[in-house]
Amino acid sequence: MFTRIAGVGSYLPGNPVTNSDLIQRGIDTNDEWIVSRTGIKARHLAEVGCTSSDLALEASRKAIASADIDVSEIDLIIVATSTPDFIFPSTACLLQSKLGNKGAMAFDVQAVCSGFVYALNIAEKYIRTGASKKALVVGAEVFSRILDWEDRATCVLFGDGAGAVILEASEAPGILASVAHADGSQHKILSVPGSICGGKVVGDPFLRMDGQAVFKFAVRVLSELAHECCAISGISTGDIDWLVPHQANIRIIESTSKKLGLSVDKVIVTLDSHGNTSAASIPLALDVAVRDGRIQRGQKILLEGVGGGFTWGAALIEY
Ligand code: ACO
Repeated sequence: MFTRIAGVGSYLPGNPVTNSDLIQRGIDTNDEWIVSRTGIKARHLAEVGCTSSDLALEASRKAIASADIDVSEIDLIIVATSTPDFIFPSTACLLQSKLGNKGAMAFDVQAVCSGFVYALNIAEKYIRTGASKKALVVGAEVFSRILDWEDRATCVLFGDGAGAVILEASEAPGILASVAHADGSQHKILSVPGSICGGKVVGDPFLRMDGQAVFKFAVRVLSELAHECCAISGISTGDIDWLVPHQANIRIIESTSKKLGLSVDKVIVTLDSHGNTSAASIPLALDVAVRDGRIQRGQKILLEGVGGGFTWGAALIEY
């Protein structure tokens, strides 16, 4: 028994905010710096009051429609997010309520930009063991809430959005390999090292990053993940039809595809118009490429993510 993706959906809030728009908002930067270092030209930023569960709801509705199922059939909801609506209840429970689903198991996964592939890894096992029949797996983020808009080295990199998939059991191949890893000793290179205690923020509530350390770590593990998934599935990296990587930075994506000997034409890139949407970036890119017809049923797709923790993971799918 396999786990297959039965439907996909995504959602971006509001209008694109271009690099020039950021300059107009007072950020001391320039389009040439952002585009040449990161590949990002625009991102979407949620209005105040719009939460991760709001974005997740819109993406989920599209995934449910694309899978042609009723919301009552979903028995497992996992939301990958580092920007939950509340400390608790989970964003998954809030999403369940907004969707009008009752009874499904619902919880959040916190693995930052690897969150979606972590959530997929968990849901795949629930489906394959028969514990779940239909799972909704979502990546949803309002990273704009945790950015220090005075720190030009990080605030230009991120955006808000959500992507979702419906998973179901299938006798025909679906997810061929799913792997996930972490190295907590690297927690300082990308973090939001603050918390709430006694009604006050303690520590730093903004995203902090050692960009060069992240770059090196990401390129290494993204190519290792591809080889690991291919070895499990008994295929070579040349058999991959599409690479759908976490959309952090075009230079990380290009270095990874070069290391793997994969042509850039086989890589789905959306970060130019979405920025880095953390846990939402992989399902957002997947949805874009399914809807524009590049990704077709039967093709081999490698989804791979890397993020704070440090965490990394991938899924090789016969779509
Ligand atoms: N606009 C203009 N200039 C800027 C900006 C900006 N937005 N940000 C930084 N600079 C300047 C700095 O002030 C510095 O100027 P100086 O030399 O006069 O002091 C110069 O650019 C270089 O700054 P660095 O921080 O050293 O920039 P670096 O060359 O390392 O590039 C970047 C930063 C693009 C983030 C790079 O480290 C990188 O690609 N890292 C990968 C990490 C990444 O993409 N993270 C995304 C999130 S993590 C994830 O999703 C897994």
